[in-house]
Amino acid sequence: MKAIIVRPPEKGFEKKDVQIQEEGIKIRILENGICGTDREIVNGQLFAANAPEGYSFMALGHEAIGEVMEDGGDFRKGDLVMPVNRRGCGKCLNCLLGRPDFCETGEFVEAGIKGMHGFMREYIYDSPEFLVRVPPDIRNTAIMAQPLSDLEKSLEEIFSVQGRLYWKCRDGTYGCRRALVIGTGAIGILFSLLLKSRGFDVTVSNIRDPAEHEARIFEETGVTYFNSSNGYSSLGNKDAFDLIVEASGSDASILPSLLSLLKNNAVLGLFGFMRSGSAVLKNTDIQNLVYKSISVVGLINGQKPHFEVAMRDLVQWKHIWPETSRSLITRTIPIDKIDEFPGLMNKKTPLEIKTKISWV
Ligand code: BGC
Ligand code: ZN
Ligand code: ZN
Repeated sequence: MKAIIVRPPEKGFEKKDVQIQEEGIKIRILENGICGTDREIVNGQLFAANAPEGYSFMALGHEAIGEVMEDGGDFRKGDLVMPVNRRGCGKCLNCLLGRPDFCETGEFVEAGIKGMHGFMREYIYDSPEFLVRVPPDIRNTAIMAQPLSDLEKSLEEIFSVQGRLYWKCRDGTYGCRRALVIGTGAIGILFSLLLKSRGFDVTVSNIRDPAEHEARIFEETGVTYFNSSNGYSSLGNKDAFDLIVEASGSDASILPSLLSLLKNNAVLGLFGFMRSGSAVLKNTDIQNLVYKSISVVGLINGQKPHFEVAMRDLVQWKHIWPETSRSLITRTIPIDKIDEFPGLMNKKTPLEIKTKISWV
């Protein structure tokens, strides 16, 4: 079958006919999303990337929508599904209980990333256990459920950290809680929408003015935009935040300025992989963390329950934010045309939110 393959740690990718042995029900892949992680692998920057045991290559891709080709489990021929991308180590209790996002051994595998073939290929075989139903109503945006699943899990984790105090507002909502999301890539935008849909007061930032389609998204959804090209100091103390999510993968030197924007009992969630730099924390910065009971938490990888909530959120967003939902997919490229887009697998185009590859 045709597949997009990589050979980590080598750079580059190939579109090639390959043979892959796997078990489960047959699923025809309809489309894939391209994510920053795929590009890091293609650029040879993701050190964790490695081919599955017994193979000299790995099929790329962890965002996929497919069509079930034969009945299996609760699925019937023709159903639309999305495969879950991280699978357990088979040893630790978290993995055995369906939560490899908290794998204790670190021996989990991830489709198209680490030790497991990914989904950028004509078809896969998979167990119904790892398939999530895609509501046909959101066929166009459903690919976003994979990255959104990571964020649903992240938010669940943030709520669980904040279970340490009374975090709701007097009216029982989160409307008085201010969240700042750093970055306007697919993750920054999805995180802003997710927090907004849970009732938070959301500001999103980038070091430039918003592009037109981004501005329309923030207007429709009621998210405030902040241009942080001159730093965050103009946001000042009075505007301090209850939650900051780093979703840009920016330079690590940003950390002290983010910490200084946090209120008492706030959370700093780190989602983006910071690719450069280092952070110097003064003793007073650290004293502040203690005095203010601030939590810093690493956020990664959603599992099947999070994919399911992500699908439901996308259905809801289609109704409450129709224009935003339509503009999340910025480009769809047929698989036979990918050679006409040099750099497609290396770099995000400036205005990209999500680029999809279609196989049909
Ligand atoms: C995926 C996550 C995964 C992470 C680390 C992201 O691109 O969406 O599910 O855990 O990469 O490999
Ligand atoms: Zn990804
Ligand atoms: Zn494990």
